[in-house]
Amino acid sequence: MIRSRIIATGSYVPPKVLTNFDLEKMVDTSDEWITSRSGIRERRIVEKDVATSDLGTQAALRALEMAELSPEDLDFIITGTNSPDMFFPCTGCFIQAKIGATKAAAFDVSAGCTSFIHALSLADKFIKENPSHKVMVLGAEIMSKVTDWADRATCVLFGDGAGAVILVGEEGERGILSTHLHSDGSLWELLYMPGGGSANPSSRETVDKRLHYIKMAGNPLFKVAVRALADVSQEALKYNGLTSEDIDVMIPHQANTRIIEAAAKIINFPMEKVYLNIEKYGNTSSATIPIAMDEMQRGGKLKAGDLMLLCSFGTGVTWGSAVIRW
Ligand code: ACO
Repeated sequence: MIRSRIIATGSYVPPKVLTNFDLEKMVDTSDEWITSRSGIRERRIVEKDVATSDLGTQAALRALEMAELSPEDLDFIITGTNSPDMFFPCTGCFIQAKIGATKAAAFDVSAGCTSFIHALSLADKFIKENPSHKVMVLGAEIMSKVTDWADRATCVLFGDGAGAVILVGEEGERGILSTHLHSDGSLWELLYMPGGGSANPSSRETVDKRLHYIKMAGNPLFKVAVRALADVSQEALKYNGLTSEDIDVMIPHQANTRIIEAAAKIINFPMEKVYLNIEKYGNTSSATIPIAMDEMQRGGKLKAGDLMLLCSFGTGVTWGSAVIRW
């Protein structure tokens, strides 16, 4: 059977670190509050002149180097992002041009923080359709430019970064075993950015009202997120005839350590098998999972045949999972 296997990973975070102590000087908050409520200690923030595609480009080049492929070998570049360079063209096209992937079809996926899993699911389908396809999937975000730095309830949570993986078709047991995707658009008001789109086109008024920043109902979103992560993980295990004991590592979307712990408890999944790096990067939206995957791969924490469960939730509301035999 042909499966889509991840043959390489890459990631990039900007060098500038913003700690909780730095935030104490910007808004009425404390390191103690942020750490105990979210698990975040610091996050990376880009300089003014950096765009999302710049982060994606660095992650893409690192993945290509690991794969020992040239940019022209890629057939598709699918980029998950909620903070694109521009409304159009898509961020994937900027990445394509910057790395010189002249043969690739590039497009973006927008499904909140779950975008990387949506993109992975599409890559799997392209490869099943034609096993010779080589597909790059990215999650790339500059959340710091859509964050209201005067809103303490949100500005402490997010960070910037990008991750990339390259998939090829391969005969055998290794690769993507399943993906499951969900959404409930009736819950859109839990997390959104009202300004700049067709509903509220940019104007002096939208800027004055700070509509170009994230609006979030943190507490209700927390509850939805716990349920979504637990449900989608259970669904993935059941679909593959697995139990949590069979899984070697879970990489959840890194939005809040307490959300992950609560979801793991519901499905009886031991936290020792959950990979966390939220402490260092905060919530980089669709980039959290590929950054974590790359850290694990380069840190020698993954071995061939490991069973991996990815699960995520995000604005929309969306949620999804993937089970991968590494
Ligand atoms: N510092 C200090 N106090 C704060 C801060 C802060 N940074 N932010 C809020 N508070 C205050 C609130 O004003 C509130 O005060 P009050 O009781 O006087 O009104 C109090 O702390 C408690 O606020 P809650 O919102 O109830 O705190 P909660 O325990 O729910 O934690 C948090 C807040 C961390 C935001 C949590 O709700 C959460 O993580 N929600 C999910 C957020 C999320 O995952 N978003 C992204 C998902 S999708 C994506 O990844 C793009």
